[in-house]
Formats: sequence, C-alpha cells, structure tokens
Amino acid sequence: MAYLIAANWKMNKTVAETEDYIQRFLPLVEDTKNVEIMIAPPFTSIFVASQKLSNTDIKLGGQNMYYKEKGAFTGEISPLMLTELGVSYVILGHSERRHIFGEKDSLINSKVLSALEHGLRPILCVGETLEEREQGRTLSVVERQIRNGLAGVEAEMSRIDIAYEPVWAIGTGVNATPEQAEEVHSFIRNLINEISKGNDQGTRIMYGGSVNENNAESLIKQPNINGFLVGTASLDPERFSQIIKVSQEV
Ligand code: PGA
Repeated sequence: MAYLIAANWKMNKTVAETEDYIQRFLPLVEDTKNVEIMIAPPFTSIFVASQKLSNTDIKLGGQNMYYKEKGAFTGEISPLMLTELGVSYVILGHSERRHIFGEKDSLINSKVLSALEHGLRPILCVGETLEEREQGRTLSVVERQIRNGLAGVEAEMSRIDIAYEPVWAIGTGVNATPEQAEEVHSFIRNLINEISKGNDQGTRIMYGGSVNENNAESLIKQPNINGFLVGTASLDPERFSQIIKVSQEV
C-alpha cells in the first residue's frame, strides 16, 4: 500500500488561511506519486478545503468525531457531517483527545466502530507518555490501546490505519529515533497481524511526533513505518511538501 502522509492541523488555520495554504500547497505536490496525501483541517475549514481539493487526489480527514449520527451532543460533529463533505479519514484517539479531553479506550472504540459503519477510514492513534516509557511500559500501553480501541473490528483491520505517536515526542521537537520508533512499529505489526488473523496487509502504521523535513527520511526507511502523521511541520506548505517528497523517494 502507498505510504500515507497526513497533516494534522489541530486548532490552527482560519478559512482564509486554509484557502491560502491550499493555493500554495497544490503546485508543490502536483507530481507526487506512490504516496497518499491527507489533510485534516479544523472542522470550520473542511467545507472550503473540500471545494479547493475536489479536483485533486488529496484526501480530507476529520481530527475527531462523535459516534452518533445526530442529536443533543452540544459541540460535537457526526460521521454524516464528515462524509457529506467528502471526508474519507478520521483521526481517533489522538493523545490530545485522550489527555486534555479525557477520552478513554471505550469511547474511542465506539468512534472506530461508527467510522467504519459510515465508510470513514479511522486512523487510531496510540502512544505512551514519558513516564510510561521510563517505567518500561511502552509496549503494554500500546497493546492495551490497540486491543481496546479495535475491539470488535479485528476482522476489518485492513480498513484501519494506526498512528504510533509517543506523547513525549508530540510538539516537543524531540522525535523518537528511527530505532525507537521501529521497535514499537514492529511490535504493532505483529500484534495486529495476530488479532486480525493475518488480515492486516492494508493497514498502515504511521509514525507521529515531531516529524519534519530533516528527520523524515531516516524514519520512513524503517521497514515497519508506513507513513506519517505530521502536526507542526504540516502547517507550512513548503515543509509538508518536503516531507512528502522525501517519503516518495525512499
Ligand atoms: P507534531 O504533532 O508533529 O507537532 O509533533 C504530531 C501530532 O500530534 O499528530
């Protein structure tokens, strides 16, 4: 499967800034081959982004969603609202959702189920805190997040992507070394191969956490790194396009 290089803009960019970004970004990536590009803007920018990207291969993602289709859920966005705008991916269980907004594995699992029911491709985010790493609990934390987050959808594994994002590497400028990332990625690959009974060929295991145009090459060369989820460096069209370029050349 083609690598998936995804931009997670988080709570950044107004509608006007989104339009400006896309206008600058498109010429930079027009020759891209063998790499799938996805952008997850804030909800308020999805409509304009979907119009601007309609004649391109660039996919759109939601940064989150609620699992119900509609109703009294103030402040939430439903899967139907995303699919209507041509969104095909949804980031679920991002560490900021887990740690700032208190999302638990069971809620994230409901969202994964709902995304699949509505034809959205979930990107399940997992990763340990610095404290958990120092206590030697990295692999057990990641295993719990994957087993619980994907409970009941093991047979659908190839409709799901996973992003390994160590919490200590997100937005800090300190990325996991290629060796640190590869250790966890190969663990995840074996785990999802086991729980899906070998039905995981379509699943990309992406790395996220301070990915930039300088460290992307050594990370993507690792055998079990199949893409990136990029925050800070994705906010600049030049830098994001460099990460894409480096990834397609490997
Ligand atoms: P970062 O964010 O690239 O700024 O570390 C990555 C993410 O949180 O997805």
